[in-house]
Amino acid sequence: MATSSNASSSGLPSSSSTPSGSSNKTKDPIVEAGLVVADVYKTAKYLQNYKFPYCDDVVKYEMLVKIGEGTFGEVCKGRDRKDPRKFVAIKKVLMDHEKEGFPITALRELKILQTLKHENIVNLIEVCCSKPHPKTFVISTYLVFEFCEHDLAGLLANVNVKFTLCQIKSVMQQLLNGIYYLHSNKILHRDIKSSNILVTKSGCIKVADFGLSRAFSTPEQGKPPNRYTNRVVTLWYRPPELLLGERNYGPSVDMWGVGCIMAEMWTRSPIMQGNSEISQLTLICNLCGTITTDVWPDVEKLELFGKIELPQNQKRRVKERLKPYLVDPYACDILDKLLMLDPKRRIDSDTALNHEFFWTDPMPSDLSVTISQHKSSMFDYNKTRTRPYRPGNIRAAYSKLKAQVAPSSTNVDKYKDLIF
Ligand SMILES: Nc1ncnc2c1ncn2[C@@H]1O[C@H](COP(=O)(O)OP(=O)(O)O)[C@@H](O)[C@H]1O
Ligand SMILES: [Mg+2]
Repeated sequence: MATSSNASSSGLPSSSSTPSGSSNKTKDPIVEAGLVVADVYKTAKYLQNYKFPYCDDVVKYEMLVKIGEGTFGEVCKGRDRKDPRKFVAIKKVLMDHEKEGFPITALRELKILQTLKHENIVNLIEVCCSKPHPKTFVISTYLVFEFCEHDLAGLLANVNVKFTLCQIKSVMQQLLNGIYYLHSNKILHRDIKSSNILVTKSGCIKVADFGLSRAFSTPEQGKPPNRYTNRVVTLWYRPPELLLGERNYGPSVDMWGVGCIMAEMWTRSPIMQGNSEISQLTLICNLCGTITTDVWPDVEKLELFGKIELPQNQKRRVKERLKPYLVDPYACDILDKLLMLDPKRRIDSDTALNHEFFWTDPMPSDLSVTISQHKSSMFDYNKTRTRPYRPGNIRAAYSKLKAQVAPSSTNVDKYKDLIF
């Protein structure tokens, strides 16, 4: 972010006072400032007044209310001081536990967000920073996004928000359009869940939270397989292959989450709420049937298959169990294909978008009528808390939500199957 500036106008300790004794005035002042190890105070003072190019001071926004907190930061609604009609969401990059500079996860999120431009992907407006903290000299960094009025978890938690079949089709179609765009650009989201799906007041769906996302490649034949981490995706939305230790995975991990969200559109809360990896797998087997090599030939190659005791002789009951909620036969069919145990047999976003569900009456219809009836924002964060914005809460929030295995909703200590 910092590249160059005029040293004399910003009060940088003069180059002759640096331990290196360098008098080369053409050097980048920031690089020089980095060399002034002994003179931290002078450097801090310099930074107080330093204007980072391409990175405005976050004071340009008025912080209004806290709307979210998670693993990597907290999110506030903000208003542009120069244009009070412009609202934004400001996500602070959490630095509390960083010993080695700017967190790599935030850098990855930023880099990916900068390359993505699509109407169903949240739009990053800019990156802002704060003045250095007077005692620690730490400069905070903020990602500034277009503001979306709701998230899907918040909307689904409110019984007054009712979606028709046409509107559910629209939500799913827009979500799949966003996912299709990501996957065609070789990006895995790796944290698909309802609180990461935003909804604008005009009913536009935006995929958000790229904190766990990464670029992926499809390994060519004869080349070594990918070895990505399998500690990704919030537990309740985590597909069986990750729970069984798969490290050579691809876009199908996101499609499982899409399936969980689709069911949630009718059940109104996450369908499989395990409290550990094993309980999550048990819930999956109860719904999707026993995991065997008959239904999933490659499963025996996975590290944890055969090492964990899982329910045996379970029939697949996805359609049977969800029919009372979904009713529509095409909805049941696409959901069945999204919740396939074998990732190779799970439907991809392109095929899903071509499914009859989206192309038969009643056709997908505009959400704005329903959404615009609700004047106050609904966020996952508000479901369980009503506290006002307090910046000091980050550390507590971090330890509480640190493990993404613990989803943000309540009842994580119960072993719950909501569609039984
Ligand atoms: N652009 C946005 N507009 C409105 N709300 C947002 C926006 N971005 C995030 N939020 C809210 O903040 C919450 C947390 O943000 P998110 O990016 O998911 O970070 P994390 O979950 O890593 O803390 C979201 O679940 C959502 O409720
Ligand atoms: Mg999130």
